Amino acid sequence: MPKVTAQGKTVECESGANLRKVLLKNGIDLYNGQSKLINCRGIGSCGTCAVRIEGPVSVVNWRDRARRSFPPHSSERDLRLACQTQVLGDIRVTKYTKFWGQGAESVWTPEDA
Ligand code: FES
Repeated sequence: MPKVTAQGKTVECESGANLRKVLLKNGIDLYNGQSKLINCRGIGSCGTCAVRIEGPVSVVNWRDRARRSFPPHSSERDLRLACQTQVLGDIRVTKYTKFWGQGAESVWTPEDA
């Protein structure tokens, strides 16, 4: 089973599991601030579930690419929308600052909460 390491925790999930669901189910703070309450619940439209992922995941789908091409996101950043991403192997996840997770500083890293 793939292992997901995020915010100081390592959890297991099924191959193909939705990353947003895995993180939320395991109490990992996917959303920053008010985006905990104001988000699209995983339909790929709000962009607040953006994270950086190291390791094998599904290819970028059109929703993920489209939303991250819109400000304040930028297609130049190596972020992904957790709600549009399936876990395919052991991965490490980092969350960045600001409402959409588009900031330059990390909020948490794979190892640090
Ligand atoms: S939860 Fe809104 S884009 Fe992922």
